[in-house]
Amino acid sequence: MDFIDLPQLLAAGGSVRPPGSKSISNRALLLAALAEGVTEIDGLLASDDTARMLEALRALGVACVEIGQGRLRVEGCAGRFPVRRADLFLGNAGTAFRSLTAVLALAGGDYVLRGTPRMHERPIGDLVDALRLLGADIAYLENEGFPPLRLAPASIRPGRAVEVRGDVSSQFLTGLLMALPLTGREMTVTVAGDLVSRPYVDMTLDLMARFGVRAARQGGQVFTTPTGARYVSPGVFGVEGDASSASYFLAAGAIAASSGAPLRVAGVGRRSIQGDVGFAGALARMGAIIEMGDDEVSACRPPEGLRGITLDCKAIPDAAMTLAVTALFAEGETRLTNIASWRVKETDRIAAMAKELGKLGARVEEGRDFLAIAPPPGGAASLRPAVIDTYDDHRMAMCFSLAAFGTPLRINDPDCTAKTFPDYFARFEGIVAPAPVIAIDGPTASGKGTVSARVAKALGFHYLDSGALYRLTAFAAREAGVGWADEAGVAAVAAGLDVVFDDGRIWLDGREADEAIRHESISVGASKVAALPQVRAALLFRQRAFHRAPGLVGDGRDMASVVFPRAALKVFLTASAEIRAERRYKQLIDKGMAVTMASLLQELRERDARDAARTVAPLRQLPDAVLLDTSSMGIEEAVAFVLDLARDRGLAAG
Ligand code: DC
Repeated sequence: MDFIDLPQLLAAGGSVRPPGSKSISNRALLLAALAEGVTEIDGLLASDDTARMLEALRALGVACVEIGQGRLRVEGCAGRFPVRRADLFLGNAGTAFRSLTAVLALAGGDYVLRGTPRMHERPIGDLVDALRLLGADIAYLENEGFPPLRLAPASIRPGRAVEVRGDVSSQFLTGLLMALPLTGREMTVTVAGDLVSRPYVDMTLDLMARFGVRAARQGGQVFTTPTGARYVSPGVFGVEGDASSASYFLAAGAIAASSGAPLRVAGVGRRSIQGDVGFAGALARMGAIIEMGDDEVSACRPPEGLRGITLDCKAIPDAAMTLAVTALFAEGETRLTNIASWRVKETDRIAAMAKELGKLGARVEEGRDFLAIAPPPGGAASLRPAVIDTYDDHRMAMCFSLAAFGTPLRINDPDCTAKTFPDYFARFEGIVAPAPVIAIDGPTASGKGTVSARVAKALGFHYLDSGALYRLTAFAAREAGVGWADEAGVAAVAAGLDVVFDDGRIWLDGREADEAIRHESISVGASKVAALPQVRAALLFRQRAFHRAPGLVGDGRDMASVVFPRAALKVFLTASAEIRAERRYKQLIDKGMAVTMASLLQELRERDARDAARTVAPLRQLPDAVLLDTSSMGIEEAVAFVLDLARDRGLAAG
């Protein structure tokens, strides 16, 4: 999928269980592989990052077999990988790359470790320096300080003080700690300087202990693994739900779940060993109503609304990204500090966040190690539709889904969530309620425009006259000297339309265009350009950008089939060709235009045929659309008919 279009969302609620924790999954896989005995891992995350780790372990000769119901059986190699020479590709999985670098550097074989181009831009020098102090033999294959790496058997130097910097990534310390037992000796590692994401180190120590190795810690910076330490399988190991993945749902609850029906996230809670459960505390500071159980958390919106906070995010760098988007729904500024590590993640997350939030109209200030976000002056309701780029960063894609509570938006490359949460968008859609759409399709001059506009007004909904966009495109193409058959040329015109719909009036390039685009010659042009697939594609998001709260009535030919296939109500509004020609005739005569019934009828039949016969989005009544034939019906009656249907479906009060 190239993109996903999200409508504006009205509310969130229900319950969700996020997939297994990435950080725990990859650590557990590696520890199970290094352990004595067989481990059965339950609830393992199935995603790109865990797939890279699994592939690597299998390439190293470790038997990892799926045994059903999300359970994986790992036969530990007791600290000695059967395959002593291998070339491993680890994608952009930081958790796999850093920990395997440390472990394989001390594992006594010859290995090459590579990743994606982005992985080759992410620093690893601090870890390599620390491993070299221990006696590891590591060479950089391209750039000094960055992957890819070549590892040869180490000559361990006992008694050496190992030091590692902790201010770039905690994964360096995590990798070292997991690898140290392979030396067989007592080893002490000291963290130099600040340690970022400390909770991830606590998680590492906790998991090592569950696999039989207790590292001692003196203060927060010095860690010692004992002589003769070896990993032993705990038998069955259960992976908790991912607390970072949970953050999107909790934020959705804090933004849009009513207090009677909070959003509940299962599989993560007070007992969790993941630092990112701290995210719930940050939401609470913003005013969200949070309830924390041992193994679940629920969130809802406070009656007085969320408020901006200043937060040191050192301990929760990943979940803090979610706060950056949640900030769009808070009163005042939210300032996220101590986030320098964002710059060396899947992408430069500070720059990416600032740029994309700016597209929505947020006020953003970006610094070396902080980000300050405030909603636009009118609050989240005045966010504007935008096309969001995701930089091959799963968290960018997931974070921006939350902006849909303020505006419709398009998210490019949504499949990048596969890194940690392959079915994220399907799960997200399961806990949100979109603004309703009434789709009214039908042939030309059927009266659907008038009916749709009246229905919209009666319900207080927005109104989209999609035909006007095709008319505007034909008109603007003619003005620009682009032929109506020039598909790429007309599509470029459609993409660049500078159009404002303002209370029934239409402005093109700052000039009122309503009259000009209703001309018969433009009707013909509109029906021609509407048959061009590239033109339809260029106008798709423009139409979906009308899908705002409290609701939308859209009229055209493909509202129900293509633009809003999940419309709450679909109506196919038509009338006989003769009646439609007659209505049109009266309109034109009233305007003082010279036309004949015969020519009008013929032209209308030709347009019907063209709209119905084209290969893309042809005009037709869908099986789930209600037929409304207005041949012997006045406008009032037709409007009342649609409003009745809307009421039946709960789209209107009364
Ligand atoms: O509804 P209208 O007559 O203003 O539409 C003008 C032309 O645009 C019509 O010939 C068909 C085309 N159109 C379309 O293909 N799809 C839509 N959703 C709306 C209009």
